[in-house]
Amino acid sequence: MNLLLINASPRRERSLSRQLATAFVSQWLALRPHDAVWERDVGINHPPLLTEAWIAACFTPEDQRTAAQSDVLAYSDAAIDELARSDIVVIATPRYNYGMPAALKAWFDQVIRINRTFSFDRTETTWPLSPLLSGKKLVLLSASGEFAFRPGGLRERWEHLEPHVRTCARYLGVSANDVHHVAIEYQEFGDERHRASLQGAISAAKALASALATAQSPHPRSQQENSNAS
Ligand SMILES: Cc1cc2nc3c(=O)[nH]c(=O)nc-3n(C[C@H](O)[C@H](O)[C@H](O)COP(=O)(O)O)c2cc1C
Repeated sequence: MNLLLINASPRRERSLSRQLATAFVSQWLALRPHDAVWERDVGINHPPLLTEAWIAACFTPEDQRTAAQSDVLAYSDAAIDELARSDIVVIATPRYNYGMPAALKAWFDQVIRINRTFSFDRTETTWPLSPLLSGKKLVLLSASGEFAFRPGGLRERWEHLEPHVRTCARYLGVSANDVHHVAIEYQEFGDERHRASLQGAISAAKALASALATAQSPHPRSQQENSNAS
């Protein structure tokens, strides 16, 4: 099994979302020590923003692209390849201005790509996905300065992180039931509520890792690869 970790905090040392990611991944590896973990650290190494040249390259059939057009898609190709090989995607991110940080949005923009991961079929209600992307699980690990973004909470209407990630999840090959979210809140308060939230989230991340690691059976692509390898 392959786990893809997307870290989106620009903070290396004091990041709470990275702390949550470490708890999740170490618990996963404790149970599945032979699994591969790849990290794409978009918080430190920002994905390129989309340009007119990038869009034109996407709409140019692969066998007609110039070398420059292939170059412009190189980051996207690499990020999509590692996404396609993954069985579980773990996104660890801060909440910035009520949604995802720009660097994480830039990663989504690079991997959700017309004519590569999805196509237009105007007879369908949703755009068809490439078969490369299916059967994945998504774990969102977030850290917020404020609190009460859950349904019924004080800031429910300002919650633009989880709903956005859930909407985009389909385009990563994740079905709605396979999205999980563990959140740290109250970082700005630094009080007992924050300490309780942090401890609760670390326990929840470990429990989620245990549940997914033990329940997880490889999706068809992995089974195919395994049988090819043996
Ligand atoms: C630029 C910026 C914008 C932020 N916007 C919000 C926000 O809208 N709502 C919120 O709850 N916290 C907000 N925060 C607080 C962060 O979500 C919080 O510090 C979190 O712990 C950051 O994640 P990290 O610890 O992994 O770096 C913001 C922090 C920064 C630096």
